[in-house]
Amino acid sequence: MKQRIFSGIQPSGVIHIGNYLGAIRNWINLLDKYECIFAVVDYHAITVTYKPTELQDRILEAAKTLIAAGLEPEKCTLFVQSQIPEHTELTWIFNAITPVSDLERMTQYKDKKYQNMDNINSGLLTYPLLMASDILLYKAQVVPVGDDQVQHLELVREIARRFNNRFGVTFPEPQPLLSKAQRIRGLDGNAKMSKSQNNYIALVEEEDELWNKLRVAVTDPARKRRNDPGNPCICNIFTLHSYFSSDEEIKWVEKGCKTADIGCIDCKKTLFKNVNNHMKPLREKKKELDKNQNYVRNVLENGRKRCSRQARETMEEVREKIGVFY
Ligand code: TRP
Repeated sequence: MKQRIFSGIQPSGVIHIGNYLGAIRNWINLLDKYECIFAVVDYHAITVTYKPTELQDRILEAAKTLIAAGLEPEKCTLFVQSQIPEHTELTWIFNAITPVSDLERMTQYKDKKYQNMDNINSGLLTYPLLMASDILLYKAQVVPVGDDQVQHLELVREIARRFNNRFGVTFPEPQPLLSKAQRIRGLDGNAKMSKSQNNYIALVEEEDELWNKLRVAVTDPARKRRNDPGNPCICNIFTLHSYFSSDEEIKWVEKGCKTADIGCIDCKKTLFKNVNNHMKPLREKKKELDKNQNYVRNVLENGRKRCSRQARETMEEVREKIGVFY
């Protein structure tokens, strides 16, 4: 029997190549080997201030981009977290067995607290418990995540252990599957690529917009003039080459940059060509899906039905074990 995978992505409004290289691309490679469940985790997204009128579009946009990127609905289950109430139900139960101190030491919570000073709500703190419910509701054994989620996953394992000890063995302890990609920096060459930093290239960026963004992207800051030699090791554009360009092109860039034989614009033009070629089919698939919203809604509804059955089963077991049935 295939092992079961669960992973989730927030409907941030735009899926960028950081999400793609760090997560989604790896998910696609797992489709044949595992039984895969992927969720658009909209209840995670409401822990920061947002516009309710935009969220629906963001959810659909995320689903469409995932499908366009290669998560073929025939090969995996795709659904929207909020459509299965058992996620929040199980979260409450995990609330009751998790010490506050375990949550307070999560580094993401500490970061988010500072980023959202005007809205430090309890959801920011209990965020990992909703994550635990996502994973454990389906008894997933493997969770593909980026390195920033490893600490959360350790806590999920701790929660599974604690529940099992107290109420009898119910949940597996899910293992992280780390993606090989390093953290992708944004166009500022510094911060992690993200929607909120506005330093991203969208996965379905239009051709001219893609070039506009690459053209002004930060390279080696020490290379001020065309004739200065550059240092590819610290250049974010060079990092992107390593994902999109051929070995030959990478060697050409590395040598040309170090010797100042090529300028940053030459280097960027090659990157542009390769990223654009890579994205073209995704962009076209996405446009097709934009015109065919019913198909997408149908995929999500099928996912909901499938997951709902499993979620109900797990919750029946949990309710019985914790003693709230009569
Ligand atoms: N917290 C994850 C992130 O920000 C998203 C997420 C929610 C998730 N639930 C999950 C990832 C369950 C893996 C498994 O990237």
